[in-house]
Amino acid sequence: MNGLNIIQHPLIQHKLTLLRDKKTDHMDFRRLTKELTGFMLYEVMKDYPLQEIEIETPLVKTKGHILAREISLVLILRAGLGMVDGLLELVSNARVGHIGLYRDEKTLKPVEYYVKLPTNLPETDVIIADPMLATGGSGAKAVTLVKKAGAKDIKFVCMVAAPEGVQVLRRAHPDVPIYTAALDDQLNDHGYILPGLGDAGDRLFGTK
Ligand code: PRP
Ligand code: URA
Repeated sequence: MNGLNIIQHPLIQHKLTLLRDKKTDHMDFRRLTKELTGFMLYEVMKDYPLQEIEIETPLVKTKGHILAREISLVLILRAGLGMVDGLLELVSNARVGHIGLYRDEKTLKPVEYYVKLPTNLPETDVIIADPMLATGGSGAKAVTLVKKAGAKDIKFVCMVAAPEGVQVLRRAHPDVPIYTAALDDQLNDHGYILPGLGDAGDRLFGTK
């Protein structure tokens, strides 16, 4: 599908399979989430614009390239928090925004409870991170909120996506590409991704 990028590097697939395994405890789940997110970032940022600058090595003057714009990482709470360390390790000067959403258990619609975004969001390249794209309600809502704050260049990064969620997010925001490590089969009756990895927030934080 146009705008959907499935990142299939062997290391990413290896770590994703360990994440899916129900025997993986919260300590390893956190470590794997961090590592996998870091690897995904190489692909997500591969077309980011660069700016030429002049520098001096210990020997001569030369020209080099640095990222043209600042990066804002916007995490969807709670589970998006698990991805922040992997991202910040590679772009340590990124600004970090938080969007608090939880799914209503009955309607599966996202309920907003917190939004704090960098004030210079419109001048930055924005990466929204959430491990799971299930019905797509949370992802679509988060993109709407960052657009309302003026963001223009937005990418959505998750670890596991359901076809239903991809369709909803692409329809609502066709200008926002999706990056995922896997496109799974379907949702179950409770809105969980199959085969999926279960409840990402609970597995990350050991709350169940
Ligand atoms: C999970 C996940 C996403 C959302 C995806 O969060 O981290 O934010 O569900 O589902 P959707 O695509 O159907 O909206 P959850 O609502 O469980 O909150 P939590 O991270 O606080 O546990
Ligand atoms: N949220 C999760 O954490 N997992 C799913 O499978 C769906 C939504």
